[in-house]
Amino acid sequence: MKSKNIVWHTGKISKAIRQRAYGHKSAVIWLTGLSGSGKSTIAAEAEERLFTQGINTYRLDGDNIRFGLNQDLGFSQADRKENVRRIGEVSKLLIDAGIITFASFISPYAADREMVRNLLDDGEFIEVYVKCDLAECEKRDPKGLYKKARNGEIKAFTGISDPYEEPENPEITVETDTMDLEECTEKIIQYLRENHYIS
Ligand code: ADX
Repeated sequence: MKSKNIVWHTGKISKAIRQRAYGHKSAVIWLTGLSGSGKSTIAAEAEERLFTQGINTYRLDGDNIRFGLNQDLGFSQADRKENVRRIGEVSKLLIDAGIITFASFISPYAADREMVRNLLDDGEFIEVYVKCDLAECEKRDPKGLYKKARNGEIKAFTGISDPYEEPENPEITVETDTMDLEECTEKIIQYLRENHYIS
């Protein structure tokens, strides 16, 4: 921390008051996986399901956030770490605001994901491993980036020329090469219900 002489100010409306008023808990549903594995698609679908049930939700997406808040970051290990750290902090704010947040980021390093888990209270970090074979992601190649990575036009591309560390103990795993969108979404919503985030 660079700033000195700063003092935390507590408001009158706490996280607990907000959660009671909204009738559900808040947490971040952190979707990690290879590019093209389906993170953003699942997040958008699950968010819509929750929102139409009157639940306060928001979505943070790797590509989108890099257009704004994180436009100064690239894809080096240090930049990916800073990307994840900032999103962890934004997630913490949204959780404080009582919102169920979906965060879709490759977040390839286990230690960076663990950093976010440690930043939050128990139960507020729900890690979802969006598992999909590299070969399948490469076949889908929705943005044409795997092709570019293979041609050497993109350096340090996750799965091709940069590492991806699989989660060892995620709360949820969805396998998008064998499960359809509805099944993946339902598995997440069911987890939220069974663990009393939502009723
Ligand atoms: S992360 O590794 O820092 O978590 P993030 O999820 O924000 O990545 O962004 C990943 C997206 O950026 C990919 O879906 C892809 O569209 C794009 N991208 C561009 N260059 C790279 C790269 N070298 N590695 C991975 N993704 C890249």
